[in-house]
Amino acid sequence: MRIDMELEAYLRPPDAPMPLYPAKVITLVTGGKMVVRQVFREDVPKLLPAVRPTLDIPRDYYDVVGARLYAELLAWQRYRYRDVFCIIGQVDGLLVGIVNSRMYSPQVGISLHTLAIERGLRVGAHLFAAKMEHHIEYLGQDEVLITAESPIGFRRWMIEYGLELREGQHELGGAAPYGLTREMYFDAKHRLVAGQRPVPPDLMEVAEREIIVASEQDIIEKILGARREIP
Ligand SMILES: CC(C)(COP(=O)(O)OP(=O)(O)OC[C@H]1O[C@@H](n2cnc3c(N)ncnc32)[C@H](O)[C@@H]1OP(=O)(O)O)[C@@H](O)C(=O)NCCC(=O)NCCS
Repeated sequence: MRIDMELEAYLRPPDAPMPLYPAKVITLVTGGKMVVRQVFREDVPKLLPAVRPTLDIPRDYYDVVGARLYAELLAWQRYRYRDVFCIIGQVDGLLVGIVNSRMYSPQVGISLHTLAIERGLRVGAHLFAAKMEHHIEYLGQDEVLITAESPIGFRRWMIEYGLELREGQHELGGAAPYGLTREMYFDAKHRLVAGQRPVPPDLMEVAEREIIVASEQDIIEKILGARREIP
């Protein structure tokens, strides 16, 4: 496909240079080692097959979150989303969760989505904490605006972090935005932000070699906790 770069220059939002997120490893309650690391535009095609099965899962709003995340990943890959970053969790190379977020301005971050594929291990909670860590500690932002699309999300973010309701609308559907300030982040850090750095080279090598995605049937089973026939 030939791209008209002159027109592209108008269609593409600008991309600010952003510091990178340093990878870390979190030991889950099962003893599994989850490597948490940043991924980039070129990795998007490997992530999409993990999100696609969620579009048919209404339980816990996986469908809404999955569809939005899918669209955001595609738009980012095709240069239609501004100042985005994406962090994934992998256990033995297997993709267990995805988070994405963006910088609205140098000071303010906008939390986009958190999707846990492996459930019951706080994978989503750890990955959300990693994206807050990136906004506050590595991007040096003052505040992150967050909303919740699901009751579990509300418990995990608004209640666990004690977020503050803000005026106006979050860019995700105009829902109520809640703020996480630097002060709130550092207050919560000892409770909620886990992991060690650097990641041992053998673990990092496995994670970077391949992003392994479970089969569609396995993803549905992991999310629902029970096997269901796919038509
Ligand atoms: C919100 C989310 C990221 C949290 O991930 P997490 O921290 O890894 O938590 P889990 O989803 O595994 O577990 C949430 C709760 O459901 C329970 N649970 C575990 N496995 C479950 C399953 N298969 N089905 C239903 N509930 C399950 C857990 O025990 C947990 O209970 P707790 O809150 O008392 O600890 C995840 O639930 C998710 O991806 N939901 C769909 C998308 C979404 O809502 N994203 C956030 C938008 S704001």
